[in-house]
Amino acid sequence: MTRKLALVTVLVLAACGAASAQGIDPIQTRQAGLGLLSGTFGGVRAVVAANGDVKTLEGAGKAIERWGKVFPTLFPAGSDKGATKAAPAIWSDMAGFQKASMALSTAGGVLAAAAKAGDAAAVVIAVKGVGDACGACHNAYRLK
Ligand code: HEC
Repeated sequence: MTRKLALVTVLVLAACGAASAQGIDPIQTRQAGLGLLSGTFGGVRAVVAANGDVKTLEGAGKAIERWGKVFPTLFPAGSDKGATKAAPAIWSDMAGFQKASMALSTAGGVLAAAAKAGDAAAVVIAVKGVGDACGACHNAYRLK
């Protein structure tokens, strides 16, 4: 029994060590993801501005929908320190932050559906919805 417990302890410590050895840095990871999000959204807007084929935007909408669901998990306790513009309000109001991220997810889903339908007018409205979700969260949860 004691030996089993010791083994479990060793395994848990080994697992924790492995995670940090792989260098999973939440600040770097979320900022890298935000760069991809920004590039994706910029590409979406460029297609719309050029009156391009909105059907090609379904994948981008789905990716934004999925990102909004997981984004708050990249803000673990302690990741308010360092090279980050994450505002303290994220940790004092995690429920509100999660809601703001779900708003982005929902807007991404709306974009995906409008794109899938090939409805260019609905895509324009959906793109505005995504942009509003970016801005709303930045106003409340990102440092200037
Ligand atoms: C739920 C909140 C939230 C939403 C929604 C959101 N952001 Fe942000 N964004 C943040 C926070 C917080 C930071 C600061 C992250 C950090 O520095 O750790 C940030 C930072 C960024 C950065 C800078 C990343 C870097 O390299 O430091 C970019 C670019 C960005 N966001 C783009 C966007 C775009 C585009 C959208 C919408 C498509 C968006 N964000 C939606 C919260 C959000």
